[in-house]
Amino acid sequence: MLDKKTLIATENQSFQSQEFFNDQWKVYQKILDNNYMGHHEIYSVLEKFLLSYFQQPLKMLDLGCGDANFTAQALLNSTITSYQGIDLSIPALEIAKDNMGKIQCDTTFTQGNFSELIPELMLTQRHSFDAILCSFALHHLSLEEKDLIISQIKELLTFNGVFILIDVFRQAAEDRETYLRRYLQSVRQDWSLLTSQEYLLLENHISTSDFPETQQTFHAISQKYNFSRFECLCDNVNNATQILCFYR
Ligand SMILES: C[S@@+](CC[C@H](N)C(=O)[O-])C[C@H]1O[C@@H](n2cnc3c(N)ncnc32)[C@H](O)[C@@H]1O
Repeated sequence: MLDKKTLIATENQSFQSQEFFNDQWKVYQKILDNNYMGHHEIYSVLEKFLLSYFQQPLKMLDLGCGDANFTAQALLNSTITSYQGIDLSIPALEIAKDNMGKIQCDTTFTQGNFSELIPELMLTQRHSFDAILCSFALHHLSLEEKDLIISQIKELLTFNGVFILIDVFRQAAEDRETYLRRYLQSVRQDWSLLTSQEYLLLENHISTSDFPETQQTFHAISQKYNFSRFECLCDNVNNATQILCFYR
């Protein structure tokens, strides 16, 4: 069952998530099926990291978990005992429940905006999560929102906990316009099975909603909030994607 309290979404959130599910979900599945964003390589690095770093029971929070398909595969042989997924989309969470069903652990699925739910978790689950994952969901936020959320995530991590950020990034000194031109050009060139309608939908989504930062910006944020270590596990998959670890 979904967490009843958090099923009360604002109309705006509910509209956004429904829109994402209806219009963009099928395109996103096609992108994943063709590995256009490099999920296979990225999640194989994540799986190795989870296996080597977490030898003790692992409690994970997954922000913007979507259908948790790749996360579930990466967790298959891990020490996971507890998994909490948060997403705006109820249909995605229903699929996530099925995908996580093959993993032996306690699961909780919460519908809502993680920016609003994290302050609530800070009241009840401070220093509770060994790993907090956010995969391809943070780049929609402004820099100020990203900065705030990372400071709050630190408070949710256990003392040896890690925030794992998988996302698209601008190159050092690359501005957003240049990034968008470069990224969309590679989408046009390499994501050849997208129809022109699917490409237009994606172009519109990326141009209006993607606000990636540079790795250097996240390094500076990690220092600002006194994370003990900052590491890039995987650089430049598909010319844009990285896995960054913020060690509490
Ligand atoms: C591109 S999908 C990524 C799904 C999955 N994490 C992955 O890597 O394949 C982005 C997901 O984040 C969710 N999302 C985006 N912003 C969110 C927010 N502020 N709060 C909760 N979920 C959010 C969307 O509903 C969507 O399911």
